[in-house]
Amino acid sequence: MIKPPSYVSEIKPYVPGKPIEELERELGITNSVKLASNENPIGPSVKAMKALLEGIMTPDTSSGINRYPDGNGYYLKKAISEKLSVREDEIILGNGSNELIDIAVRTFIQPGDEVVMGNPSFVVYFSSVHAQGAKAVQIPLKNYTHDLDAMADAITPRTKMIFIANPNNPTGTINKKDELHRLMESISDDILIVADEAYIEYVTDPEYAESMKYFKDGRNVLILRTFSKIYGLAGLRIGYGIAPEYIVIEMNKLRPPFNTSTLAQKAALAAIQDDEHVHASRAVNENGKQYLYEELDKMGLKYIPSQANFIYIILEQNSSEIYENLLSEGVIIRPVGQKEIRVTIGLPEQNRRFIESLSKFIINK
Ligand SMILES: Cc1ncc(COP(=O)(O)O)c(C=O)c1O
Repeated sequence: MIKPPSYVSEIKPYVPGKPIEELERELGITNSVKLASNENPIGPSVKAMKALLEGIMTPDTSSGINRYPDGNGYYLKKAISEKLSVREDEIILGNGSNELIDIAVRTFIQPGDEVVMGNPSFVVYFSSVHAQGAKAVQIPLKNYTHDLDAMADAITPRTKMIFIANPNNPTGTINKKDELHRLMESISDDILIVADEAYIEYVTDPEYAESMKYFKDGRNVLILRTFSKIYGLAGLRIGYGIAPEYIVIEMNKLRPPFNTSTLAQKAALAAIQDDEHVHASRAVNENGKQYLYEELDKMGLKYIPSQANFIYIILEQNSSEIYENLLSEGVIIRPVGQKEIRVTIGLPEQNRRFIESLSKFIINK
């Protein structure tokens, strides 16, 4: 029997949010609601869907789906470059931003290195680092937010990378300008800051610390963004990174040559140009958030105000039980700690279903 190294076998497999079809098949129900993976409940831009259809129906032209995709993603990179005023050679496309996390770690980290990250935060940071035989240094959140000062204090000569999810998943909190500034001032240029901004389009707080400023100042920052969240294209798997060119060059050596599909590139290109869809998605999210806050307040439940499209709720009972209870009602959410759950903000009817089911099982009513 062949065995992986212990740093691989020790990894707990990522448990994705339960797919709707699976739950409905298991329970023999229909009309279930998935609020578990922070997807956009209104779906993608109609323009992106049209681009997909056109892409499928294109006969054997250079961009037909019988051909390999443009491995360089020329048109999409051009659009991102224009939108964000960065150079095309400072952009890398990924099969979701998830793949870029993995590529960044494989490119820069070797066994024995240390990578600093928050806890709890996006679990893929931990597994990617561990799989490389390196040490994930997990710094507890402070007030449910990345404690950037404690993260700076955790730096040793072995530290090569720092992950900052801003907003953080699962808590929905952000780091503010002054906090990031202090961290950036205190670190040397042989450390890569990975600023994971998967939910940036939902942020409304003017104090939000955008890492773009530091990238533009020439610092070692890899900014990760995605088309899976507000752009509603999670199923197509496409995201992008922005970093100094030398970092992109190194990461491209490990990037599979055709990692983003023709259809994903076409849909993302249409999506990034559709500001109306982004505005509409933000409005649905804000309204849903207010409704959920009000209902959670009425139930006397503790939650963390969110700058993203999900809410972290702290219960006084076991989160796995609540998860199972809600599943039995066809409502899929995510248990994220012993007593904590994370719920994605959905459409009004979906939010109502969640609240109704939650109120049936909550014990501190
Ligand atoms: C903080 C954060 N980063 C990255 C991702 C990965 O997104 P994707 O690979 O779909 O781009 C997620 C997905 O939930 C996330 O929450």
